[in-house]
Amino acid sequence: MASYDLVVIGTGPGGYVCAVRAAQLGMKVAVVEKNATLGGTCLNVGCMPSKALLHASEMFEEAGHSFAKMGVSVSSPKLDLPAMMNFKQQGIDGNVKGVEFLMKKNKIDVLKGAGKILGTGKVEVSADGKSQVIETKSIVIATGSDIARLKGIEIDETRIVSSTGALSLDKVPGKLLIVGAGVIGLELGSVWHRLGAEVVVVEFLDRILPGMDGEIAKQFQRILEKQGFTFKLGAKVTGVDTSGKTLKATVEPAAGGAAETLEADVVLVCIGRVPYTDGLGLKEAGVALDNRGRVQIDPHFATSVKGVYAIGDVVAGPMLAHKAEDEGVAVAEIIAGQAGHVNYDVIPGVVYTTPEVSSVGKTEEELKQAGVAYTVGKFPFTANGRSKVNQTTDGFVKILADAKTDRVLGVHIIGREAGEMIHEACVLMEFGGSAEDLARTCHAHPTRSEAIKEAALAVGKRAIHM
Ligand code: FAD
Ligand code: NAI
Repeated sequence: MASYDLVVIGTGPGGYVCAVRAAQLGMKVAVVEKNATLGGTCLNVGCMPSKALLHASEMFEEAGHSFAKMGVSVSSPKLDLPAMMNFKQQGIDGNVKGVEFLMKKNKIDVLKGAGKILGTGKVEVSADGKSQVIETKSIVIATGSDIARLKGIEIDETRIVSSTGALSLDKVPGKLLIVGAGVIGLELGSVWHRLGAEVVVVEFLDRILPGMDGEIAKQFQRILEKQGFTFKLGAKVTGVDTSGKTLKATVEPAAGGAAETLEADVVLVCIGRVPYTDGLGLKEAGVALDNRGRVQIDPHFATSVKGVYAIGDVVAGPMLAHKAEDEGVAVAEIIAGQAGHVNYDVIPGVVYTTPEVSSVGKTEEELKQAGVAYTVGKFPFTANGRSKVNQTTDGFVKILADAKTDRVLGVHIIGREAGEMIHEACVLMEFGGSAEDLARTCHAHPTRSEAIKEAALAVGKRAIHM
């Protein structure tokens, strides 16, 4: 029987990063993966393919709408969707190969098959009707998440799709109806809208992007509407009639009332994701779940069974690749006897649309609810030199600082490159820095990041360029 120090089940960003860190710390490690390729949701049907399509569709949009005003004259761009999908696939393949390389480099055994926990120290791996049992000192569950489904609406991945189908449509839908104005709806809605689809988003709540700062979300909604998105807020889709050539969705006000019918060529259901634990044998092994079906862990990622740990989308917390990765590193260090740790107060979130939205720390709504006295510093990109010359002035930076201590509690950005800009705020917050620290840090000119410095100055009511 093969024997290891650590067996990681699942090779998404949580699992493979955990395996690499454990190998670096001298452990003999194996990963178990039931999918044909490594890399999990993120590499195969999540972060990477969506970002490839966001990039390609943004270039298509720019070529058609922005080049001429900069004096770059091109004939009207033509969409070659198969080539765009090929571009996406090349990106996926490159990243998957990268993970395979990391496994080899770190001498990590890759066991292809479905993993099942038989109890402390034992994992069964099954593939093609055959199974083997392997022994290990520790087990990490990193099995990720799956799409949440809407009762009565069957996803066929061609006309009624989840994010997975929406990443591989074979033609641009004339009308795309999106259920859920969360991250997936707005990112994939942007892709298909840029490629020519009419996009209508039905959202249960009275706002888009729940969890993000309200003021940022409002501005974001206005910008998306200007781009051509239609939002139906406070509404839900209760059924989709698939009998005709076009889909007919029944949309009802969330609070009750008369229903309306919306026609669409494709319906994208993206109402969140749920932890994935099918076939893991958790019940039999005695691994406890919480009331939302997530694997229950203590602050050191330990489950209710000795020697079994869990990380990533399958446990509580934001379902983000970088959160899973950081937990992977922390749990490997804990298993090795070190003090692994994740600071959940400083996990950035990014929506990769145009403009991008990024955020770290507390929102204004959260501070109000917690009764924390805070000061706001804001700076618009319309007053930032670099944004002006590039004519990309949508959005603003918002900094929330403790009214007494000036410590930065939250930073929220809407604007081009917001996803890259947020990290100086993350580093500052990791060090418990103040708005004054940020305001006195020299920022290169001309950069969009100067808007962060100016927002920090605005906390002390002394922004220069406004
Ligand atoms: P996963 O990546 O889901 O990996 C779990 C792996 O476990 C899978 O490979 C699965 O096959 C395997 N597995 C499951 N059960 C078993 C078993 N019994 N035996 C063997 N193997 C098993 N996050 C971001 O931070 N940024 C983004 O831009 C972003 N974009 C996204 C876009 C989309 C369309 C989607 C759907 C998600 C996106 N996410 C993004 C979320 C991100 O993909 C997840 O947070 C991340 O993949 C979670 O990592 P994980 O390692 O916990 O699990
Ligand atoms: P989400 O949780 O971001 O948004 C789901 C939306 O659907 C919410 O606004 C919710 O109110 C709404 N909703 C729920 N039920 C509904 C109903 N019956 N009718 C209408 N609206 C309904 O989930 P989403 O977009 O599916 O993404 C799943 C996960 O993937 C997220 O947790 C996110 O963290 C991750 N992800 C991250 C990305 C990033 O970091 N850029 C990109 C894509 C996904």
